[in-house]
Amino acid sequence: MAEEILRITGGQKLRGEITVQGAKNSALPIMAASMLCSGETVLHNVPRLTDVYAASRILNHLGLRCKMEQTTAVIDPAGISETEIPDADMRAMRSSIMFLGPMLGRLKQCVLTMPGGCELGPRPIDLHLDAMRQMGVQIREAQGKIICTAEHLHGARIPLPIPSVGATENIIMAAVLADGETVLTNAAREPEIADLGAFLNQCGAKISGAGEGTVTVSGTASLHGTEYTVMPDRIAAFTWLCACACAGGTLCLRGAVPRDMESSLSVLRASGCRLGICRDRIYLDGGQPLRSVRYIRTMPHPGFPTDAQALIGAVLCTAHGTSMIEETVFESRYKHVGELLRMGADIRVSGRTAVITGVPALHGADVCAMDLRGGAALACAAAGAEGESILRGLPHLDRGYDGFTETFNSIGGIAKRMAISTPNREKNGPRKQKC
Ligand code: EPZ
Repeated sequence: MAEEILRITGGQKLRGEITVQGAKNSALPIMAASMLCSGETVLHNVPRLTDVYAASRILNHLGLRCKMEQTTAVIDPAGISETEIPDADMRAMRSSIMFLGPMLGRLKQCVLTMPGGCELGPRPIDLHLDAMRQMGVQIREAQGKIICTAEHLHGARIPLPIPSVGATENIIMAAVLADGETVLTNAAREPEIADLGAFLNQCGAKISGAGEGTVTVSGTASLHGTEYTVMPDRIAAFTWLCACACAGGTLCLRGAVPRDMESSLSVLRASGCRLGICRDRIYLDGGQPLRSVRYIRTMPHPGFPTDAQALIGAVLCTAHGTSMIEETVFESRYKHVGELLRMGADIRVSGRTAVITGVPALHGADVCAMDLRGGAALACAAAGAEGESILRGLPHLDRGYDGFTETFNSIGGIAKRMAISTPNREKNGPRKQKC
């Protein structure tokens, strides 16, 4: 058996400039939304990620033609015909559920199974399905398949019990071609939703308030294609700032959107990092000693993002004093903590709360990514640790970071990705956890 690992040599200060990649969590719903258009869409700044390639596979399976050329996706919806997404494709990522709304909007039917994605605790889709029912969709489940059909979709007033990002996006995508008006309240306000709304409006949709708490969609007969540039990835941007905070040094991020990152940047400042901001650039000076942050609570946007929780946790491992993090969005988003403990961190987790007591330094270790952002947090910690670390579970990283190793090395990091052969565990008993 072969496995890829990332060998990271810690203790190197980072220094340089990075252009922020396109946003994974915007590119994926926009790719799905392209099936609502009757003409070709060209998307720029699409990050080269395994999740993007998975979305491209689904579009091609459904009969559209999706071609990836570096960071541009060209999607021709003319041949759309298929209404069922194979289970393997649904399991590949959480964003496979983002095809529900556009398939119902365009085809009035679809057959899906439960989506995959990072294991962060239960990730139900009840809010997605309830909203589709309110818009006239019949839904039944048989042998694990979710079978959705509708004579036609009509607008509805949909109050979301929780501001679910995915449910907000699916409702918008189902509503743009529905009969009448849809008013969605307690909608998620993540910037990626504003980006989806801007894309759809550029295709002729009539959406107001995307990215705010109340979204109103007036259904139209059809949407035309367009050429669109995906917004930058605010979590990838924050990742690189945290890598520099962990390792020390100075970093300039190009193409960031500081106003989308206010809550996460303010926590980074509170930890002792010096930040400079101008238009689409963020400068970080990680030269000061880090200090603990008394209390961080993850919240829906514009609160501190749950996707940044593991990343700031890695920074606080060597901050002077005790920090407390409360994860309010997902039930189980501390899988990376066990791996940070192997690097000498002092963290105690109880339920949704983590208490981090800073230590003078972490040391390198053989660690394993269990999910996307947890894996990125381990890489940040390794960058600042004394000695060498081995990071396993790289497929998690490849789902969300475009050229992670190259980017890290471009700012002075020392990382080498290599394949190693691993004993075939099947011969010696049941296969343990991948790492
Ligand atoms: C999106 O996931 C992002 N993924 C996640 O980023 C992000 O952490 C999350 O939003 C919150 O910001 C993508 O955009 C592809 P939710 P999503 O629906 O849509 C519960 C990353 O690292 N819920 O806002 O799945 C759910 O269990 C990923 O890039 C229901 O109960 O998140 C969770 O507790 C990780 N029923 C809460 O709502 C539902 O029908 C928020 O989930 C849907 C969600």
